[in-house]
This record gives sequence, structure tokens and C-alpha cells, in this order.
Amino acid sequence: EGIRLYDPSYQNTAVARSKICEIDGDKGILRYRGYPIEELAEKSNFLEVSYLLIYGELPSRKQYEVWSSQVMHHTMIHTRVQELMRSFNYDAHPMGTFVSTVAAMSTFHPEANPSLVGSEIFKKNIAVRNKQILRLMGKVPTIAAACYRNRIGRPYNPPPAEGSYTESFLHMMDHLNEPNYKPHPKLAKALDILFILHADHELNCSTAAMRHIGSSLVDPFNAVAGAASALYGPLHGGANEAVLRMLEEIAKVENVASFIEQVKQRKRKLMGFGHRVYKNYDPRAKIIRRVAFEVFEICGREPLIEVAIELERIALQDEYFVSKKLYPNVDFYSGLIYKAMGFPTDFFPVLFAIPRVAGWLAHWVESLEDPDAKIWRPRQVYVGEPKRGYVPLDARS
Ligand code: CMC
Repeated sequence: EGIRLYDPSYQNTAVARSKICEIDGDKGILRYRGYPIEELAEKSNFLEVSYLLIYGELPSRKQYEVWSSQVMHHTMIHTRVQELMRSFNYDAHPMGTFVSTVAAMSTFHPEANPSLVGSEIFKKNIAVRNKQILRLMGKVPTIAAACYRNRIGRPYNPPPAEGSYTESFLHMMDHLNEPNYKPHPKLAKALDILFILHADHELNCSTAAMRHIGSSLVDPFNAVAGAASALYGPLHGGANEAVLRMLEEIAKVENVASFIEQVKQRKRKLMGFGHRVYKNYDPRAKIIRRVAFEVFEICGREPLIEVAIELERIALQDEYFVSKKLYPNVDFYSGLIYKAMGFPTDFFPVLFAIPRVAGWLAHWVESLEDPDAKIWRPRQVYVGEPKRGYVPLDARS
């Protein structure tokens, strides 16, 4: 009995055994289920990677066809969900609308409500569990696109009958508002690569939140909503938005040196730099940097890339960053791609959340099957007042 270890912010605590994602932060290595991220980004696609993350192995052709057609079959959202979304203020941050709508999905699927159908439903009934996985994988891009359409006051576009996961999503977004819009296949492919890179990253803040909330055996819609809330923060998935705002503020290459000085004086943080686990170049950032230039060839070179390159050049040779092992992370270049593709800045965290749903679900499934898993309940060190007597209001000074 009593406190065994004080470990603020879980900096040294391993709370689960996992087979999903392996990171070697010193060497800059990332693998999903043993497959190097570079190989998956080059040869696979997001739906296949999602299957790999959730079910442990790459699918056979038959499994892939069933999985992708079932996910795409679940892309429609209920008209009442659309009505709910329309009730948010038009200028609401899209992540706020996204989180609330995903949580509201639980109210549409009572057969997946553990308080109605039994607390062990997701442990015991694999069919019910898989159905909710398909629903989340299918409906999340539709909800995300509807958040955007709501934001700009335009009608919601239903999912198209054909197209890949990212083509369907881009079609629903129609954010360039082009007549007879058909997503550019190379841009859909670039987004698919970004989705692969963002799909999982072991026990980051939002995935830990997913496992934490899921450990109470609540339904996955509420758990994903909670995980998405964690992702919204500027130190996590909100960093891609924060990076772009920072680059816009710096604006010109000439201003980079003085900004770096402010960072070194601890007045500012260099957003998109640093990581709890990577003490080397984030392997995802390397791929994203390459994809950025491929996207610029189609959409035009985003001028802020010069500011980003100069920030990276100075930071990587400056003693402050070198000694603290601060390197660009996944969020440093992704925002520039999103901007070049025409997505609004406040939509960037949503673009991170869509693919991360696959990782959250993989961890949810793994924790349901883990014989060691119990409800998460960390301990604290109480440092408050010892026992004292109540003083009536009038007697207090
Ligand atoms: N700019 C300037 N200094 C930094 C930065 C930065 N971006 N990141 C860390 N440091 C310093 C920090 O001040 C500390 O210095 P000292 O030891 O002298 O006090 C040292 O480096 C260690 O940093 P930390 O904050 O103790 O490290 P952490 O593991 O608690 O935080 C982090 C990791 C990602 C929250 C942090 O690096 C950060 O705030 N980065 C900027 C936000 C960002 O890009 N987040 C995206 C993370 S990657 C993808 C994702 O999770 O969404």
C-alpha cells in the first residue's frame, strides 16, 4: 500500500505491452507492426495500413477488398448528425465541432452502449466491436468534411460512390469550390501518404487518452472523442496549426534569426520542433519534407517554405537545439502541405485526427484483448494541507 513511484507526466512509466508501433527515438526509427514507415509510405495505402494496425497483419487481397468496401459503405452520416453539426456557430473551430459530433455518434448506436447491452460487450462480442470500427473509420472523414462545409456556410456533400479514402474525403471537402471538382490523383495520393504517417505513434497524449478512457469500457465513440480532444491541444495535434501561424508571423527569411533568439531566451517555443521520444530527426518529417515539394509542383511553391527551411537550417546548427536534441517533428512541414493544398489553417488538426482514428482503434482493440489490462487509475502524491477543522464563513478573517 502507498505510493511506489513519483513519475510526473508519465515520463518514465510503461503502462502497456504493445505490438502495434515501435519507435527508436535515438535512431529516428518508426515501424508499424514491424514494417518500416518509409516502406509503408512508399508502397502501401492508408486503408491497408489501418487494417494492419488494427488487425495485426497486412490483409490478403480478399480481406483488403472486404475491409475497404465495408469502410467506404459506412461513410454516410445520419441527417440528424448533419442537423446537429449545423447547430454549431459557423465560426466554431472545426476541432470543437469534430469532437462533439464524434461523441454524439454514440447516441445513434445504442447497440454499442455498454450501459444498455452489458459492460463486457466489446470484449465478448467481436462482431459488435468490428461494426463500430467500420462506423468510425467510415464516418470520420465525412464528419470532418462536414465540419469544414459548416464552417464556410456551404451545403454538405454526400460521400461519392467511387474513389479511394482520400479521394472521397477531398470530394466531400470540395474546398477549392471548383465546378465539377474531381480531386487531383497526385494530391489524393500525397494526402494518403500523410494519413499513413499520422496513423499511429504508440502512446502519445491522445492514444494514451484513448486507452485511458477505453479502460472504463465506455463505447469507442466517446473514447475517440476524448482522444480527439487531447489531440486538439497545441503541444500535440494542434502543433501543425501553431507552426503555420508561427511561420506567418515570422513571414520572411530575414526575420528567422531574431525569432530563434527569442526561442533561446525562452520567450517563444519553436513549434514543430522537439519530441518526448525522438532525440533525432523524426522519420516522418523527412518523408513529409519530400512530399511537400511534390505537392508544390502541382499547387505552386508555398512561399513560407523558405522560412521553414531557414528555421531548420539555423536550429540544426545552434547549440541550444543541438544540446537539447531538438529536431523537426511530424508537424513542422505538414502544415505547409495543407496550406499549399488550400486547406484553411484551423482545419489542420482535423487532418491529423482523421488518420489517427485508425491508431486509436488499434490500441483500443489491443487493450480489450490484453489480459493484464484493468481500469487505468494512476496514483498521486498528496502534498496538500493535513487534517484541519471547518471554520464558519463569519468566523473567517
Ligand atoms: N522550442 C524551444 N525549446 C524547446 C522546444 C521547442 N519546440 N521543445 C523542447 N524545448 C526545450 C524545453 O524548453 C526544455 O528545455 P530545458 O530542459 O532547458 O527546460 C527541453 O527542450 C526539453 O523539453 P521538454 O518540454 O521538457 O520536453 P517534453 O518531452 O516535455 O515535450 C514537446 C515535448 C513536443 C511537447 C515539446 O518539444 C514541444 O513543446 N514542442 C513544440 C510543440 C510541438 O511541435 N508539438 C508536436 C509534437 S510531435 C507530434 C504530436 O505529438 O502531435
